[in-house]
Formats: sequence, structure tokens, C-alpha cells
Amino acid sequence: MNFRRIAIEPVSGNLGAIIKGVDLAKLDDETFAEIHQAWLKYSVIFFRDQKLRPLQQIDFAKRFGEIHFHPYMRGLDDHPEILEIIKEPGDEYTFGAVWHTDQMFNPEPAKATMLYAHEVPTSGGDTQFSNQYLAYETLSEPMKGILENLKTFNVGDGFRRGVGKVNRKDRYASNPKMQAKIREPGNVPTESVHPLVRTHPETGRKSLYIGSHTQNLFGFNENEADTLIDFLRNHSTRPEFTCRFRWEVGSLALWDNRCVQHQALADYNERRRMHRITIAGDEPF
Ligand code: SIN
Repeated sequence: MNFRRIAIEPVSGNLGAIIKGVDLAKLDDETFAEIHQAWLKYSVIFFRDQKLRPLQQIDFAKRFGEIHFHPYMRGLDDHPEILEIIKEPGDEYTFGAVWHTDQMFNPEPAKATMLYAHEVPTSGGDTQFSNQYLAYETLSEPMKGILENLKTFNVGDGFRRGVGKVNRKDRYASNPKMQAKIREPGNVPTESVHPLVRTHPETGRKSLYIGSHTQNLFGFNENEADTLIDFLRNHSTRPEFTCRFRWEVGSLALWDNRCVQHQALADYNERRRMHRITIAGDEPF
């Protein structure tokens, strides 16, 4: 596709691009079509200097699909579609500070996540992203053969491995504002089995599908699975597969959870406030 309405500035060699020349509050269909193509090509896209009211952010999100509601975390009272991620000085817990892909514990995980910055630290608080197409493509052919038909077991809470404290309420204890948002998931499923190698439904490319929610490989003993999961989690976040985004007030990021892992960096002690919307996805195959 030729991009005529937007300008694109890649942020690293392997994923991520800043999209310029766009006011997301006043988006026409042609510009959106180019943004959508750029998103599929770069897997995570960024915008600067946006001025979005909550309803305008929700409208932009809805262009990508239905809103996905976080089963464990309550959204804003007046806009439940938006989860406010907030960290105050003195808080020790940082939401999302481990490599993961969003809502992997759901049988139909969120396909995309949009994060919009309202308040940012003077330094630190960046987010990192890693290209999972490359994570798959750089494996040897014998390893691809081993992984091809394996399935992962993923959970949303009660972690056996990976994220420190087992339960969400305990993990969030040192960030009271985030802890106050925790809710019971009710009948929303929070465990799921997914292919370890998935095919992107829009690009047709294969990618590795693994993250902090992954607890086991289906049918494996735990110690066998741990060895392989540890290798794959290290491999899939190799520095050359990643990019890193420095937030400013008014920045917006949109990433594709079907082919990207991400993590928030916990390297600051100032207020940071972001508005996050996730977009519903399909069952991975
Ligand atoms: C997330 O994992 O959704 C949050 C990322 C961030 O706050 O940078």
C-alpha cells in the first residue's frame, strides 16, 4: 500500500513506527485505512500530541473492533471501556511490568491494546515491545518442528511461575489505586489453552505466542515445560526484536497482541497516568 495521507517514521529496525500528520479526534475513513495498514505492517504504532476526550479515544478504538473488558480490573465509572493505569510516587507495583501479551488467559484474547498518556514521569516509564513474528522465524527448522503443534496453558491469576506473588490482590498491594480496581471475573473464563505458534488472521504470518500468563505446555511435566518456556521467553524478547517508546503527554500507542509482547518499565517514582482500551479478538489458530 502507498501511504498518501500519513507519514511514517520507523522507531527501530524490526517493529514500531510513529505515525505523523494525523489528528485522531478528526479521522476520515481513508486515513484510518492507511493507519490500519501501517499497524499491520509495523505491529505497534505511535502517535504524538493527540488531544482526545475519553469518548474520542473510545471511538478510535471501535474502528478496530468491539471493546474487550478486562475481567479482573474495573474501568472508569463514567467510561467502563477505559482502564486507567495509574502509579503514584511511593507505589512499588507497576502494572504490566513483565513481558506478556494482553489477555492471553482468555479463550479469545484481546487483539489490540491502545494506551494514551495523560501524565508521565519526567524520565523513565517507557514501554518496550517485541516482534513475535521474528521470534518464530529466527528459530531453527528442527525447533520449529518441535513447537509446531504444541499448546500452552495460560492463567489470569494464581500463577505457578513468572510474576512473583501468586494472587493479583497481593501483587497489587503496593499500588492501592490499582488494587482498588480489582474485581472478580465472574463467569468470564480466565484459563485457556492456545497454540504456541499462531497464525495471524490478517497478515497470514506465523508468530510465537507466549508470555507471562503461560504456565505450562499441554501434556508436559512441569519441569520439562519450564525448560522450554524459559528458553522461549528469553529468546522471544531478544533486544534486536524490540523497540522502546518514550512517552509524552498526548502520546498514544496501539499494539497488536497477536504478534507482539510488551512490558512496562518500572524505573520511575513519579505519577504516571494512562488510559488503556483493549479490543476484542478471536480464538487463536
Ligand atoms: C500494559 O501492560 O497494558 C501497560 C503497559 C504500560 O503501562 O506501559
